[in-house]
Amino acid sequence: MNPKWWKESIVYQIYPISFMDSNGDGVGDLRGIISKLDYLQDLGVDVIWVCPIYKSPNHDNGYDISDYCDIMKEFGTMDDFDRLLQDMHSRGMKLMMDLVLNHTSHQHAWFVESRSSKDNPKRDFYIWRKGKNGGPPNNWESYFSGSVWEHDPHTDEYYLHLYSKYQPDLNWENPVVIDKLHEMVQWWLKKGVDGFRFDAIAHIVKTEGYPDAHNPHGTPTVRAYDMFSNLEDVHTLLQNLHDKVLYFYDIMTVGETSGLGPEQALDYVGDGRRELNMTFQFEHMFLDAASAGSGKWDVVPWNLIDLKKIITNWQVVLHNRGWNANYLCNHDQPRSVSRFGNDLFYRIPSAKMLATFTHMLEGTPYIYQGEEIGMTNVAFESIDNYRDVETLNYYEEKRRNGVPEEQIMAAIHKKSRDNARTPMQWNDDDEGGFTTGDPWLKVNSNYMEINAAYAVKDPDSIYHYYKNLIALRKKHKVIVYGEYELLLPEDTEIYVYTRTLEDQRVLVILNFFEREPIIELPQGMLTNPGELLISNYEPQKEEDLGRLKLRPYEARVYLQRLI
Ligand code: GLC
Ligand code: CA
Repeated sequence: MNPKWWKESIVYQIYPISFMDSNGDGVGDLRGIISKLDYLQDLGVDVIWVCPIYKSPNHDNGYDISDYCDIMKEFGTMDDFDRLLQDMHSRGMKLMMDLVLNHTSHQHAWFVESRSSKDNPKRDFYIWRKGKNGGPPNNWESYFSGSVWEHDPHTDEYYLHLYSKYQPDLNWENPVVIDKLHEMVQWWLKKGVDGFRFDAIAHIVKTEGYPDAHNPHGTPTVRAYDMFSNLEDVHTLLQNLHDKVLYFYDIMTVGETSGLGPEQALDYVGDGRRELNMTFQFEHMFLDAASAGSGKWDVVPWNLIDLKKIITNWQVVLHNRGWNANYLCNHDQPRSVSRFGNDLFYRIPSAKMLATFTHMLEGTPYIYQGEEIGMTNVAFESIDNYRDVETLNYYEEKRRNGVPEEQIMAAIHKKSRDNARTPMQWNDDDEGGFTTGDPWLKVNSNYMEINAAYAVKDPDSIYHYYKNLIALRKKHKVIVYGEYELLLPEDTEIYVYTRTLEDQRVLVILNFFEREPIIELPQGMLTNPGELLISNYEPQKEEDLGRLKLRPYEARVYLQRLI
């Protein structure tokens, strides 16, 4: 089972701009994080993943870095950072940085030089090409709408940006760029950080020659993610980074790798690959997308059978060969309870059920800020209340194409990244206790009901349930390392799986919907179910466990001894 600390850890993700504001300017900051370390320590998390805090003009909330070795002024100073790291370490907590190596900000000194002239020594730090037939060099579409190419009148060439035009892609074919990046990663490691989440790492290599992508409808741009995702050379570059830099430190690494299945993921995380510890997979994030080609905005209901197939495949393929990162939410996704649970009538039981699901799988569980108190999606009426560059670009593009406002806003309410970015709800003070000023993004109006202060006080809260789940994982090795097996694969409402390690078996029963289905398990499994480790309901009188009626969103976990 190859034990490692990062397999036994629980990660809590902080989106700093929305976590806690310490000085009333409406923007979360490092001192805000420091002031909440007690809260996080009580919850029991071991690792904190902090989204980018580097110097940035903030077109994409820090994912556009203008200086890798400085702190965003809104977030504080390097002294604040050093104190955060020290305070965490003295509590036995680890800090994972979020590092963007695919691109920088257009305000990074490298890019400023690069665009200044065609013969500048830094020209090749980025990807510049001449236009074609009076337009961009090819038809690839950006993740944030429109072409991946931006024309720069100064030298009459185009630069490539897979994300917004304020995020020019670095040229990883240039060895000088690679050296500079390695040096910078090393610099952070020497400071003592405990790991990295590598942003958009699957995209650092693009198809050679930048050919046009197949475009049956002849649209100006076309989604061509295969042209720049998970290409073979990404692995060479990661192995190089590993062998030259990462290998020398006892750290944790996770890559953001959309567009792959578990077999391909093994190329990143397989034992012996010398690349990453784990990757974030995206297959389950597309369960509610109408079709592969439609992108994320075109939303359809998801179904449990598909979720089971995807998760089971990842669990089975990676067992003993790699390691999973399990999550249902992050700063780019809708709130998990709104998306996979029921935030209207069953917010509390369904949030607990979903937490049971991710924490009982094999792999490292990731909690996104606010998930532990069941924070929900938000639905601002006007586009003026949204801040996310992806959302705003989408809105603009759809308006231009004449799509009715109502239809666009409905998609935004479901899928905007701002759903997860509304400020953390700490208490029932103004602005949810996040700030004494005007928050950069409006607080969800439900903070009077949903907030951390209430959750900490109430022993039945989602927060305490998370705490219990975390404690269980610390106590039982089988929850960390046990082999996963799916039961009842065809059941459309109940998700049941077991985890087995030596003579111990954990049985996880999850009712994913509000109906009250009856569950029947193979002989013996429920007649003597073992110790009930955790459940989101009071135990029922269990006279006949061969057949069990589940309550809405009920979750139960049993520990069984195999003889
Ligand atoms: C990743 C980040 C996202 C960001 C993008 C560009 O997908 O998670 O927030 O916008 O990369 O850096
Ligand atoms: Ca602040």
